[in-house]
Amino acid sequence: MRDEPKAPTAGPRATRKQALGTLAVGTVLGTAFAALGTKPAIVNAQNVTDTDILNFALNLEYLEAEFYNYAVNGKGIGELGVAVGGSGSSGQTAGGKKVSLSGKLVTETAQQLAHDELTHVQLLRQALGKDAVAKPAINLAALGVGFDNLMQFLLLARAFEDTGVSAYGGAAPLIQSKDVLGTAARILAAEAEHAGNIRLLVGLKGVQTKPLDSKDVLPPPSGNNLFSLDDNALAIVRTPQEVLAIVKPFFPNGLNGTIK
Ligand SMILES: [Fe+2]
Ligand SMILES: [Fe+2]
Repeated sequence: MRDEPKAPTAGPRATRKQALGTLAVGTVLGTAFAALGTKPAIVNAQNVTDTDILNFALNLEYLEAEFYNYAVNGKGIGELGVAVGGSGSSGQTAGGKKVSLSGKLVTETAQQLAHDELTHVQLLRQALGKDAVAKPAINLAALGVGFDNLMQFLLLARAFEDTGVSAYGGAAPLIQSKDVLGTAARILAAEAEHAGNIRLLVGLKGVQTKPLDSKDVLPPPSGNNLFSLDDNALAIVRTPQEVLAIVKPFFPNGLNGTIK
């Protein structure tokens, strides 16, 4: 008989998390998220379908795609020829503009992110077919940061990428189809590569970040963790409700679909 696996001991990461826990949450970004977030609808495994989950993911991908494409191209994905119609309420995207980016690595990172998120929108819309929801109204300036300079761009990119990773991870156990789960795993891996790159740039450029919620694990210089992992070195996951609490400020008329 094999030995019972030992519970992981509290290592340096736990110590760092405890240290982070002492940071004042009433910071600019933390306060903004807390103040603007509203109570989300209840989601449970019994009544949520794969279509519901994919449409929830599509709302998040619309948000990421609009953010990066405004930052890189000064345009939203609709203006770039991507279909954004569907069920629910269509809306304009406000608050985005081209960011003055400098340096080959940073510029190429932003360009590739813009391409990837646009492609994720197209992929999910293709998977959903006639069930795809429309791009809802989005306010990219909900927190008052994101586009004035590289530091703001990295701050908001970090928030979106870490939220994206945790959203796919949190939704995975709710997915019924193995095909959908397999694709979701690959999108999650893509988001994790995005997050890893952005978290490194945040550290290299010295961007101060604030906790999005009590689960958030901050990269340097505000925190000590290059990777957004828990004490078992597993990716942080968030339930749809926890994700909604973070992203709702960016959707002034709410998300489209059943998870909102
Ligand atoms: Fe994405
Ligand atoms: Fe991403």
